[in-house]
Amino acid sequence: MSPSGEVVASVSSALAVLLVLLACVELGDAAAAVGVYRLIQYDLAGAPLGSRAAALNHHAAAFPLPAGADLSRSALVAPLLDLPLAFLREYLAEKKHLGGLLILLPRNISAKNVEGNNDDKGEPKNVLAELEKLLMHEEVPFPVYFAFHDDNLDNLLADIRKIASSGQPASASTGGYKLVVPSAEPKKVSSPTISNIQGWLPGSKGEGDAEQLPTIAIVANYDTFGAAPALSVGSDSNGSGAVALLEIARIFSRLYSSPKTRGKFNLLFGLTSGGPYNYNGTSKWLRSFDQRVRESIDYAICLNSVGSWSHDLWMHVSKPPENPYIKQIFEDFSDVSKEMGISVGIKHKKINVSNSRVAWEHEQFSRFRVTALTLSELSTPPEFLESTGGLYDTRESVDVESVMRTVKLVSEILARQIYGLRGRNIDVFADNSSLAISPHYIRSWLDLFSRTPRVAPFLQKNDPFIVALKKELSEHTTDVHVQNDVLDGMFTFYDATKSTLNVYQVSV
Ligand SMILES: *[C@@H]1O[C@H](CO)[C@@H](O)[C@H](O)[C@H]1NC(C)=O
Ligand SMILES: *[C@@H]1O[C@H](CO)[C@@H](O)[C@H](O)[C@H]1NC(C)=O
Ligand SMILES: *[C@@H]1O[C@H](CO)[C@@H](O)[C@H](O)[C@H]1NC(C)=O
Ligand SMILES: *[C@@H]1O[C@H](CO)[C@@H](O)[C@H](O)[C@H]1NC(C)=O
Ligand SMILES: *[C@@H]1O[C@H](CO)[C@@H](O)[C@H](O)[C@H]1NC(C)=O
Repeated sequence: MSPSGEVVASVSSALAVLLVLLACVELGDAAAAVGVYRLIQYDLAGAPLGSRAAALNHHAAAFPLPAGADLSRSALVAPLLDLPLAFLREYLAEKKHLGGLLILLPRNISAKNVEGNNDDKGEPKNVLAELEKLLMHEEVPFPVYFAFHDDNLDNLLADIRKIASSGQPASASTGGYKLVVPSAEPKKVSSPTISNIQGWLPGSKGEGDAEQLPTIAIVANYDTFGAAPALSVGSDSNGSGAVALLEIARIFSRLYSSPKTRGKFNLLFGLTSGGPYNYNGTSKWLRSFDQRVRESIDYAICLNSVGSWSHDLWMHVSKPPENPYIKQIFEDFSDVSKEMGISVGIKHKKINVSNSRVAWEHEQFSRFRVTALTLSELSTPPEFLESTGGLYDTRESVDVESVMRTVKLVSEILARQIYGLRGRNIDVFADNSSLAISPHYIRSWLDLFSRTPRVAPFLQKNDPFIVALKKELSEHTTDVHVQNDVLDGMFTFYDATKSTLNVYQVSV
């Protein structure tokens, strides 16, 4: 090192010591460090939405607030059920300044109101859905973080309330706590990717078959969108559909592995990304196919939100139900569903090719003139960026039984078509048989999906999760291929999706 370098180094290390000392004088030791998840920040067609700030450094405050409290320099800590939406709406509408907001989430979103005395506040799941919708579609000028209740935070909350009840506003002179999330300015995510994963189970031609074999496509979208990208695990939307797809691939690979039971249809499996963005990935995936391959697709079954239904499922189509082809498919569904004691209804919604909005995944197929349907427990199309696997869509909201019934329904329908068994009451995938549907397999994949946030711009193309999906599909199918594309268009995303919150006790 050169002499002048040494001087610079020693000056800067002295400065560092000084800064540390200053920090200590003001704050003392961090009382706790907690993992926190930031509200999404994105631009939609140039409009800034979500949380526009990440750095937090303010005194903690909590409800109930003294009348006329000025929160412009406070970090408000609020358990989910204590945060009135009206309060938040007012702050956003009137552009009132808030130093920051930390929302405490229950560990189990599906658990009923545990405290018992707050029936009027509603169930956590519904409250969270409302809150998520509000925060996602507004420009929020202050930092907003989510954290899960734990002992540290609960103690902190109790302490802040105690100080507040003493009547004095929290400030440097009354002690209390300071909440600090050191964070650089969030940066734009450059060229966010969407990765579609596909695999084939090729059928076998009979002796004299010259024609190309027809293909049936099974498709499910696997990415999510929600108020906190690092928490958007979408167990139902659409983890459940993707898990059902993997299980269908697994059981059909057993049939297709023997020349005797290989069918005269190719099966194409597609795990698609970009679902929340009008199924952008599905569109790009379809475009990537050779026209001949696309034309060989007899029809596609898209599986979406199939993890929490008990009796009714819906088949959504873009062609009218009177269309002979749709009529046949619906009859196939009706026959098997009757035997299973469940009900499948049909819903017809025309596509509008001059509108970029795509409500169901099968509509992307319809745009390419490929017959397709979406099977879902939802009876109506969700709004843009709704039911996309956000905060409230957790493992507790899906059950293995629902996914198993979906797999059973689709597999029996496929088997009857592929093996010419229509109208026969048989049970190809009978329990206890070697083709039985595996609850264990479904449960373990649901668990993995439910632990993995999957907001596409924050999933790298070689993300372990994508690698795992590819590997799993390779276990059961051939010609497995990952198509990476850029999510272009009207969205811009910003990083800093999670961080560590330091809680400092302020000495009086
Ligand atoms: C969450 O709550 C639901 C409803 O009370 C319950 O059925 C489920 O077992 C809970 N899950 C966990 C992991 O505690
Ligand atoms: C999940 O499924 C629902 C229902 O089919 C769909 O509307 C929604 O957009 C899907 N979510 C994602 C992330 O694609
Ligand atoms: C189709 O979408 C375009 C563009 O959004 C809209 O102007 C038109 O009214 C729509 N047509 C129908 C029949 O809904
Ligand atoms: C068949 O499976 C059911 C559960 O699906 C189980 O209760 C039953 O014991 C099994 N029977 C045999 C013979 O293994
Ligand atoms: C989706 O894809 C098309 C072309 O593939 C693109 O023009 C469009 O803007 C994309 N983005 C969204 C968010 O729809």
